[in-house]
Amino acid sequence: MKDQLEALRLEIERDVKAAKSLEELEQIEVKYLGRKGQLTSMLKGLANVTAEERPILGALANQIKQTGLDLLASKRESLASSRYDAVAETERVDVTEPGIRPPEGHLHLMTHTIREITSIFEKIGFYRPRYPEIDWDWYAFEALNMPPDHPARDDWETFFMDAPISKKGKMVMTPHTSNGQIHELQRHEFPVRMIDIGKSYRRQIDATHTPMFHQFEGLYVDQGVNLTHLRGILDYFAGQFFGKGRISRIRPHHFRFTEPSFEVDISCGVCGGTGLVNKQKCKVCKRGWLEIGGAGMVHPNVLKACGVDPKKYSGFAFGWGVERVAMMKEGAKIDDIRILYQNDVRFLKQF
Ligand code: PHE
Repeated sequence: MKDQLEALRLEIERDVKAAKSLEELEQIEVKYLGRKGQLTSMLKGLANVTAEERPILGALANQIKQTGLDLLASKRESLASSRYDAVAETERVDVTEPGIRPPEGHLHLMTHTIREITSIFEKIGFYRPRYPEIDWDWYAFEALNMPPDHPARDDWETFFMDAPISKKGKMVMTPHTSNGQIHELQRHEFPVRMIDIGKSYRRQIDATHTPMFHQFEGLYVDQGVNLTHLRGILDYFAGQFFGKGRISRIRPHHFRFTEPSFEVDISCGVCGGTGLVNKQKCKVCKRGWLEIGGAGMVHPNVLKACGVDPKKYSGFAFGWGVERVAMMKEGAKIDDIRILYQNDVRFLKQF
């Protein structure tokens, strides 16, 4: 048995020496020293030797095991370091080579548009407050002259919060930014020249609607504000945002919180408001104008609800979609609003 053990030692030595990879060493370890390895099975034979021989052979076996482990460890080390030597031989780093630029991000088209709208209005003395995007019914509807059960409310396809009902009604995800008018008027600080930009939510989704979108709400209230001021602001915005020569027009409409109320159009940049290109119907607008959104003179009931005297103060308000004006911009070429929020970098990179 002693001879067998010695032979095993030689075999281990020979195999370890010949090994060329860490995987091979692993196999050698299993084969000779593992739980089902050759050394273990030899040790089972100790039961058959004499009592005097047993401790001697046992000690020898242990010694062989230790030698084997030591050999494996040092071979592992030398294999690992020679791997680095090989890399140093075959691969070079040229420290003078220019680095690789990490991809540079930029702001989302909507953030750009929000900033642009803000700065256009800041130039004429408007400021941008922030008002809740989840609010009580009273701010979103009732103070805006839309009593509960009024059918006009159906136009605002509202998400209601699963929250306790308070004195101010249910909690809603604001379906427009007009609740900002109420918060702003309640401050009783005049003149009010607000451009409130925030998220709005409605239960609708298709090529021109997303359940979450942005609106910008303008409100100008002071003594002696009239319709001509609104007309001036509309043309100012048209020229600033869409470009020189673009103008606005208003058409009668109905909102509960403005009187009179209007729908606002911007002249088409392609046909210049004529509806014709080379005597053919303009493909972009078909009629010379593009609809931008609602506006009107603040309804006296809205002022009253906010504790403002309608005999002393008057003003106008408008509310338009940020996504919509961005898509209306010439050259934007976005025909489906949903793509704005799909986070496809290939799309976002273009702006
Ligand atoms: N809140 C209206 C809407 O979402 C727009 C609007 C705002 C109309 C202000 C008039 C005045 O459709």
